[in-house]
Amino acid sequence: MENLIKDLEVLGVFDEKAFETVKVSASQNTGKTRKLYIESYGCQMNFSDGEIVASILQKEGFDTTSNLDEADLVFLNTCSIREKAETTVRNRLIQINGIKKKKPNMMVGVLGCMAERLKNKLLDEEKIVDLVAGPDAYRDLPQLITQVDEGSKAVNTFLSREETYADVQPVRLNSNGVTAFISIMRGCDNMCSFCVVPFTRGRERSRDPESIVAEARDLFAKGYREVTLLGQNVDSYKWSEEENNKARLEKINRAAVVNFASLLERVAQIHRHLRVRFSTSHPKDITDEVLYTMAKYENICKYIHLPVQSGNSRVLQLMNRGHSRDWYLQRVSKIREILGIECGISSDMITGFCTETEDEHKETISLMDAVQYDFSYMFFYSERPGTLAAKKYADDIPMEVKKKRLEEIIKKQNELSLKRNQMDVGKVHKVLIEGASRRSAEQWQGRNTANKVVIFPKENRNKGEYVNVLVESCTAATLIGRMVD
Ligand code: SAH
Ligand code: SF4
Ligand code: F3S
Repeated sequence: MENLIKDLEVLGVFDEKAFETVKVSASQNTGKTRKLYIESYGCQMNFSDGEIVASILQKEGFDTTSNLDEADLVFLNTCSIREKAETTVRNRLIQINGIKKKKPNMMVGVLGCMAERLKNKLLDEEKIVDLVAGPDAYRDLPQLITQVDEGSKAVNTFLSREETYADVQPVRLNSNGVTAFISIMRGCDNMCSFCVVPFTRGRERSRDPESIVAEARDLFAKGYREVTLLGQNVDSYKWSEEENNKARLEKINRAAVVNFASLLERVAQIHRHLRVRFSTSHPKDITDEVLYTMAKYENICKYIHLPVQSGNSRVLQLMNRGHSRDWYLQRVSKIREILGIECGISSDMITGFCTETEDEHKETISLMDAVQYDFSYMFFYSERPGTLAAKKYADDIPMEVKKKRLEEIIKKQNELSLKRNQMDVGKVHKVLIEGASRRSAEQWQGRNTANKVVIFPKENRNKGEYVNVLVESCTAATLIGRMVD
């Protein structure tokens, strides 16, 4: 099992990484007096929050650093999605406290979902941090830091119904200068029974579309060529002047309600050379209007991350996902009808959810075959305290069974990824160059519209350009080719 996971990790098929690796802030030197080191864990939204934190603190006299040793302030921006994510952070905190013993003036703070879930516990019981701030409390960071400077511990885990940080211009950390993420909403109202996010991120709220379009326009002007619109459930994006209580005379001409399809269209209209992606779509909410909008604009990428979690309707019901297997398959048929076979589809799946039988697990595999996913993030169920499932159902599938089932779906996905990539061989793909390939400095790496990584020799082209690449071979994770006119 371990070996299989390792191999597949190399292929990029098994991607626990995307949720549980670290992103360390890049160094920014604008002559500020104090240095902030920030390590983000978890999902893209959390990484995007790291950029908001850096922006708020830059105004307060902090530059970011990628070197822990020179940091005055160390933030771990944490994730609670699975037990393993929290264990990783705890171990890291213990390590950092070793450093703090030698550097007592170094301030250590926990941000993000684990801060929200554990609140004062991190300060009082474990005594390993100076500061705790939940995802909606980042504007309060300057004040919290002052509190610590003055010798007390500081905590703010208040969850807001309004905060979207709409006016904060993120400092782009770890940026390749070509692709960027834009948060369009925060929180989640779905209450999937296994999931901790509604508790750590609070109620769902959408960000003002004008500020989203302005951010995307600004990125394009700075040379970026792709934006990904982020939300836990982008299909329920909804902004109305009335509801958001912002009706002002000068804005009287604004459309009454902006839904996700209309937001997508507005961002796509900024420039035909600005690619638009989005994540995550929810199978119960994705509309035909969104699919038709995708079809209408060449620069909206033909790729949908549509997590299914399980292929069995009874399990889906226990998970409180709000749709059945048939409903999901019908949505996939609609995607194929409107966007064709080339449209990339990926998923998230959980094995060994409470009471899942062997036959029900097999239905996840048969659904994978029916959909022909390009890619999946796959996990075994990890019970999270306080969730509906933890309260209502026993976590009754033995760990060996959860892992065996996980191994089976990983194997299936690996076969499917290879098969889907083989369909791309012999075809010309439009690729946006994102930077040097991780494997060779002589090769570029970019992605096609379906979100597949394409590797090809550099010749004399540059990052941020669109090129046509003839794909000549592939692995389950990568397309390999050469540029053509
Ligand atoms: N909003 C997204 C998911 C965000 S969490 C959606 O609805 O699809 C990312 C993924 O983590 C989930 O899709 C799920 O597959 C996985 N996940 C969430 N809670 C989990 C848990 N308790 N155990 C294992 N995996 C979990
Ligand atoms: Fe969690 Fe469900 Fe919300 Fe996704 S939609 S964040 S899985 S509660
Ligand atoms: Fe993790 Fe919070 Fe994201 S729990 S997956 S960092 S929303």
